[in-house]
Amino acid sequence: MTPAPDPARPDLPSDSDLVRAARGLPVSRTPVWFMRQAGRSLPEYRALRAGTAMLEACRDPDLVTEITLQPVRRHGVDAAILFSDIVLPLVVAGLDIEIKPGIGPVVAQPVRSVADVDALPLLDPSHLDFLTTAVRSLVQELGPTPLIGFAGAPFTLATYLIEGGPSKEHARTKAFMYAEPAAWSRLMDRLALSAATFLKVQMDAGASAVQLFDSWAGVLSAADYEARVLPYSREVFEAIGSRDVPRIHFGVGTGELLPLIGEAGADVVGVDWRLPLDEAARRVGHGRSLQGNLDPAVLLADRATVDREVRRVVEQGRAARGHIFNLGHGVLPDTDPGVLTHVAELVHELTLSPADPTPPAT
Ligand code: CP3
Repeated sequence: MTPAPDPARPDLPSDSDLVRAARGLPVSRTPVWFMRQAGRSLPEYRALRAGTAMLEACRDPDLVTEITLQPVRRHGVDAAILFSDIVLPLVVAGLDIEIKPGIGPVVAQPVRSVADVDALPLLDPSHLDFLTTAVRSLVQELGPTPLIGFAGAPFTLATYLIEGGPSKEHARTKAFMYAEPAAWSRLMDRLALSAATFLKVQMDAGASAVQLFDSWAGVLSAADYEARVLPYSREVFEAIGSRDVPRIHFGVGTGELLPLIGEAGADVVGVDWRLPLDEAARRVGHGRSLQGNLDPAVLLADRATVDREVRRVVEQGRAARGHIFNLGHGVLPDTDPGVLTHVAELVHELTLSPADPTPPAT
């Protein structure tokens, strides 16, 4: 599916608009992709997935390749995101976790004691050959379009392990964090190691950018985030830092945490829809780019509202060092895929840099 060469477009993913925006370099137009673009709203995804459990699909390189490519073909987005899940490294390490349709990850034996932490299996990179195969085949198919690899950040993975499944308050997680600081630290260290292993395999196989999802970090105060979570996310970024691949860090409800999220070591800070990007840029500072932040619910509204909100996000994004257009969180399952294609086109249209002026005739 390698597109025909276009002399105006870079032919290496490392020189793509996504990578350039992540680094704060000039772009031909604002790059756009959508969190959860692979799966969920696409009928061709549902057809392919029928009869295969989510975590089984994630370990089948042919399915991973095809599902990852589907939204790139359909929407003309500027990046692919690997079809996988944040709990996959834990599953490969040997934990009994199932992704229940419409619910999310459910852990058979939640981590509730210090002994449970010490009994957690470690991720063996030699069990990730399926991932290397999938990423290599994707990089080949994608040609100039960058592939974003990803992992779940230690805190967000800890919430699933401790709660046993999705949760709103994350109260058990916080209680464990306060009551058992030494075991918490060992748990977070292990999860940081596993995330770094998972990311390194993807980078070594050719991923052009990576995103660390700390989706639920926004439930913490800035002080707790800084003392009990940030050091472990930083461990992940430090472990992969020698590779010349831009790093994106995202969480939901992190308005108060944004400067700290940046300090964990990312090149790009992902912002949800609660905070305008110009204010986010002020909080994060000029050393990092921003990604975001259209409210995914807006895509369910009428076309005039969608267009108005896309324009607003594009305008406010101009305050950032570099802007990668995205939603403020994942695509909602009821989204009309045609609206996603329209948003990608509109962002490109609104941000196309004027062609170089023709030099005056002498
Ligand atoms: O972004 C993409 O399109 C790439 C694939 C991707 C999935 N999960 C596929 C998936 C990514 C990047 C993730 C990350 C992920 N997984 C996160 C972080 C991102 C976020 O949303 O904050 C989290 C918290 C999870 C855990 C998870 N997995 C939940 C909460 C759910 C249930 C929600 C749902 O959509 O049903 C999943 C399941 C899941 N992960 C699906 C997909 C395509 C749906 C499973 C299915 O189609 O049967």
